Amino acid sequence: MKILGIESSCDETACSVVEDGKTVLSNIVASQIDEHRLYGGVVPEIASRRHAENIDRVVSQALEAAGCTLDDIDAIAVTYAPGLIGALLVGVSYAKGLAMSTKKPLVPVHHIAGHIATNYISHSELKPPYLCLVVSGGHSHIVEVLDYTKYRVVGRTRDDAAGECFDKVARTLGYEYPGGKFIDAAAKAGDPNAFELPHPKVQGSEYDFSFSGLKTAVINLVHNSQQKGVEINREDMAASFQRTIAEILSQKLMLAAQNLGYNTIAVAGGVSANSGVREKIAAECEKRGYKLYLPELKYCGDNGAMIACQGYYDCLAGKRADMSLNAVATLSLENL
Ligand code: KG4
Ligand code: ZN
Repeated sequence: MKILGIESSCDETACSVVEDGKTVLSNIVASQIDEHRLYGGVVPEIASRRHAENIDRVVSQALEAAGCTLDDIDAIAVTYAPGLIGALLVGVSYAKGLAMSTKKPLVPVHHIAGHIATNYISHSELKPPYLCLVVSGGHSHIVEVLDYTKYRVVGRTRDDAAGECFDKVARTLGYEYPGGKFIDAAAKAGDPNAFELPHPKVQGSEYDFSFSGLKTAVINLVHNSQQKGVEINREDMAASFQRTIAEILSQKLMLAAQNLGYNTIAVAGGVSANSGVREKIAAECEKRGYKLYLPELKYCGDNGAMIACQGYYDCLAGKRADMSLNAVATLSLENL
């Protein structure tokens, strides 16, 4: 079964054709990041306009690269939630038009479910149930993946998402938006023990995250040293920050795995590309004998393959949308 997956929830216009939820026949991503970088973050109105300009070309390229025409496609999957509402609407409207004109089924896909599905592409042996840490620019969740289309969110962030924290710390250190990958590169040249940064104390749920205290600690250290006329060593700060956030993520994930009885673990989302996070979680899983699944780097950030892959499982589960499908800015994974 060939699924065409369309993603436009943030600043990537993406489309992919995936066969049977695992074989990626094409994966086209048109990133708008160079333009948003000028403003230090994603500008929603610009994002929507660029999606509208790019989507037709991106979908055509994905079909061509897969060696397909629309006749070969069995269903059209599209991200409908969560994300920037105007950006989502472009993908949803385009997918509805395509489904109506071709009379193919339309399958609505949740963006976070899509991130989770990337590990099915990279590891065909992975099967639910397992525990997944989803860390992206907008989300930080610990999720029990009960089945291919059923989730329980056991931990979430109380404030910033992990990727947002990476990006804000990066900006403080003078790196361009989105700075996660620059922190990753700088950390390789720095001393991870140069600075002792705070681990948050979150009241209530033991699996919830809070990153704002960590972010503020870095900002204060950098500003205080600037006021004294001393330049902080960027590589050392990047390495210390990365060590700390990797420790926080892995501690909560390991605690949840132990308490909830999971020994199969996955990580997904943009921040799952981070080498420090990957290494720390891999080391902790190895100590405990847990099997760890990490997505290939090319599937960590937003892409259409993850939507086509999840669309396959949603399609098998009978999920369908009609022409009344709307974009939804905020929607829990548990309410699908
Ligand atoms: O999943 P994603 O592409 O978009 C959202 O759904 O939010 O995630 C983007 C986030 C950004 O915050 C970006 O800085 C971060 O992922 N990111 C990284 C790395 N590569 C991307 N963060 C840390 N290290 C990286 N190597
Ligand atoms: Zn994403």
